[in-house]
Amino acid sequence: MIFLKTDEEIELMRESNLILGKALAEVAKAIAPGVTTAQLDRIAEEFIRDNGAIPSCKGYEGYPATLCTSVNEQVVHGIPSDKVVLRDGDIISVDTCVLKNGFHGDSAYTFPVGEVTPEVMQLLRTTKECLMLGISQAATGRRIGDIGATIQNHAEKAGYQVVREFIGHGIGRDMHEDPEVPNYGRRGNGIVLKSGMVIAIEPMVMSGRRNVIIENDGWTARAADRKPAAHYELSVAVRNGKADVLSTFDYIKEVLGDRFI
Ligand code: MF3
Ligand code: CO
Repeated sequence: MIFLKTDEEIELMRESNLILGKALAEVAKAIAPGVTTAQLDRIAEEFIRDNGAIPSCKGYEGYPATLCTSVNEQVVHGIPSDKVVLRDGDIISVDTCVLKNGFHGDSAYTFPVGEVTPEVMQLLRTTKECLMLGISQAATGRRIGDIGATIQNHAEKAGYQVVREFIGHGIGRDMHEDPEVPNYGRRGNGIVLKSGMVIAIEPMVMSGRRNVIIENDGWTARAADRKPAAHYELSVAVRNGKADVLSTFDYIKEVLGDRFI
């Protein structure tokens, strides 16, 4: 069942997402060769709690951390660890959820660590473009399939593949609500988008084949062929006929400066 949000609820969701956007920027400040993903997790948890919010991934279906930190061929749901040390040339997807005033925010950003190859930068750029193009389709009267088709086409045109096993989702009082928001599909298919719907759009793009496996920790999804993968996510309300992006990369942009893509 899809829960449509009132204007007041959407403003509360913007507040959760604002804290989340600032938390990701705090993480961005710390990302460098030699830093562990557990250190990043502590920074994010502390920042979110200091802002009167709850890091809502922690404890979700038993997930043990605030952040999902997925490095290189890891796609999503990498668990932060003292043993995972970032190295020059890595990429890291940092994904988290924030709960405040009863509503969740959800956003993710894939960061380069130091200098990455031009090929990997191209993957990051294309994946972020997939997200932005997907968002442009989150308008009243469009369909869920329009979002998926747009993302899939853009990724495949660049020679990449999109993941099938993980998808975007509705979001609100629950982290995962209806509707499902796949990163693939056909234009004109799926439910019609209505004002008041809030969805998390999150393309996961593989530089190699789209197949993923789950590591023995029960969470980490990685490319079966171990080729790099990227992931960007924003929570978006459909409102006044068009997409109203509730999450923000603006604070990350401030931190990254001319390294922001
Ligand atoms: N933020 C993720 C999403 O986009 C949720 C992570 S699953 C969790 O749906 F278990 F880590 F919470
Ligand atoms: Co999500």
